[in-house]
Amino acid sequence: MSKSQGVNVAPARFFREQAFEAAEETSGPEREALMQRIREQLKAQDAVLVAHYYTDADLQILADETGGCVSDSLEMARFGFEHPASTVVVAGVRFMGETAKILSPEKRVLMPTLEATCSLDIGCPPDEFSAFCDQHPDRTVVVYANTSAEVKARADWVVTSSIAVDVIRHLHARGEKILWAPDKHLGDYIRRETGADMVLWDGACIVHEEFKGIELDELRSRYPQAKVLVHPESPAAVVAQADVVGSTSQLLKAVQTLDADTFIVATDNGIFHKMRQLAGNKTLLEAPTAGKSATCNSCAHCPWMAMNGLRNLAHVLETGDQEIHVDPRIAEQALVSLNRMLNFGREQKRQVLGAGDA
Ligand code: 13P
Ligand code: SF4
Repeated sequence: MSKSQGVNVAPARFFREQAFEAAEETSGPEREALMQRIREQLKAQDAVLVAHYYTDADLQILADETGGCVSDSLEMARFGFEHPASTVVVAGVRFMGETAKILSPEKRVLMPTLEATCSLDIGCPPDEFSAFCDQHPDRTVVVYANTSAEVKARADWVVTSSIAVDVIRHLHARGEKILWAPDKHLGDYIRRETGADMVLWDGACIVHEEFKGIELDELRSRYPQAKVLVHPESPAAVVAQADVVGSTSQLLKAVQTLDADTFIVATDNGIFHKMRQLAGNKTLLEAPTAGKSATCNSCAHCPWMAMNGLRNLAHVLETGDQEIHVDPRIAEQALVSLNRMLNFGREQKRQVLGAGDA
């Protein structure tokens, strides 16, 4: 088995030195007026709002109350594809908008800002990734959804965190060796879970990478009854302390179903909005991050997710600005690897439902 071999073009320090422009918070009558404008525009434009759990609570409220969806990245892709609206507005980061467009090329896909990207996407430039693949022609190429359309087009499979372990276990059982990109922590976790032979690209999420094992251990000793929920983009020392490791949706399910009053949560703190809605009676603690006293752009909150706000959402709906376009040739290739994931998920669901009927 090989350790990470890719080119790390995007160290966390680089991102900490960047200036990120978070969407400005709104309150009182301005907030209400913006929310009303957005509700009206969604109707007028035959648009549906699909928001990630890490986005601002007001966007999640709007998506829920207007018949859109708030979910993890896999469900966002499914929902946008299956919904009949002619415009899909994606509140999240760029790869989510691109995925919606690739799956539904006939639809208009808007985002509050096209500037919202992801350290994993930036850290995996298509040319370098393609050269990495060329070095390993015998391997099945599996990429995380947090990548550009070009990188997806070079891959055999796309996966999100909610389905990654199952897909790789399936490929491993077929005797396939894997090239994984871009998140090395998620790749390492999948490798430990499945025993698959994987070479890993050297990328990381700047938000999850900041969760720290030693500090988490200290916090756990203060709350010995607490269950620990961890997103698998976190480092191994954090994952090792988890009661549940999973995608955002899987962590939300755990907070509702596990028999505990207190949870320590190692993922973006945007998720607390939904967690409080679903499990308001439980005590929710943020897992410790490093750098709170230093210049930290990403301490438990994604600086790109934070760019989505009510003002830019109202603006794009009114102007049609910030529309996602994907080169149709690239989209056609990327669709193959995306569809493998969606079909795999459908088949899994069918089998679970079938087993339930038996
Ligand atoms: P999920 O697929 O779990 O929602 O994760 C997306 C993401 O970007 C996590 O940082
Ligand atoms: Fe990317 Fe991390 Fe932000 Fe998710 S939280 S979008 S992985 S930078």
